[in-house]
Amino acid sequence: MHNTANTPEILILPDAATLAEEAARRFAVLTAEAVAARGRFSVALSGGSTPGALYRLLAGTPFRALPWAQVHLFWADERSVPPGDPGSNYRLVAETLLPGSSIPPENIHRMRGEWEPERAARDYEQTLRAFFGDTAPHFDLVLLGLGKDGHTASLFPGADTLAKTARWAVPATAEYAERPAWRITLTLPALNAARHVIFLVSGAEKATIVRTVLEDPAAQLPAQRIHPTAGQVTWLLDAASTMNVPPSH
Ligand code: 6PG
Repeated sequence: MHNTANTPEILILPDAATLAEEAARRFAVLTAEAVAARGRFSVALSGGSTPGALYRLLAGTPFRALPWAQVHLFWADERSVPPGDPGSNYRLVAETLLPGSSIPPENIHRMRGEWEPERAARDYEQTLRAFFGDTAPHFDLVLLGLGKDGHTASLFPGADTLAKTARWAVPATAEYAERPAWRITLTLPALNAARHVIFLVSGAEKATIVRTVLEDPAAQLPAQRIHPTAGQVTWLLDAASTMNVPPSH
């Protein structure tokens, strides 16, 4: 699909497996480009049920030749639980991506879910400033999901986190799908400093919110407020999640 800078690119894939393959292919291309241009690739990862398939693919043989030593992993959000907890977004990555890729431990920049969230958020902002400098965290890629309520990362509709423009990481709290309520999240300005943002959305239970996000900009949902200042947004959606979207897309 043709797209110009800052116009979201929307790609509908047949199913969750193809969605993960397309995301892995793009991850590899962006990694190669960033390493060639700047000597490193920085990616902020999300949790939830959707990205695991992508992380598992990236850990497999076809991606063994990626320049993993230059890949730096960050997180878009984390639940306030220890890293070994089943609810930990770090643990998801530790169980899927890390075993097959050769990312050096010092390139893994996790949020401290085991700390009190305000302290963990402030610590993470320091981590980001040490890596990116004080201007803005220009991630080469941010991988995001979409909640059934329109949240992304841990930016929930109506939450005060959406107004935190002076911070790069903040504590958040929300009840959602029986997941841990306390969280740490990157803020809108931090996410919107990215060079590329890819949303991964799969499944019929997302069909209502996908239609709203794509068709009703006035809803101003957190996911609709991801507009990188100088970057590209791509929506990778599977067919089930787009069944309510009119064919013009
Ligand atoms: C988290 C996430 C969150 C997630 C959405 C979608 O830690 O909970 O990062 O923003 O991406 O809730 O989750 P699913 O992929 O499970 O639908």
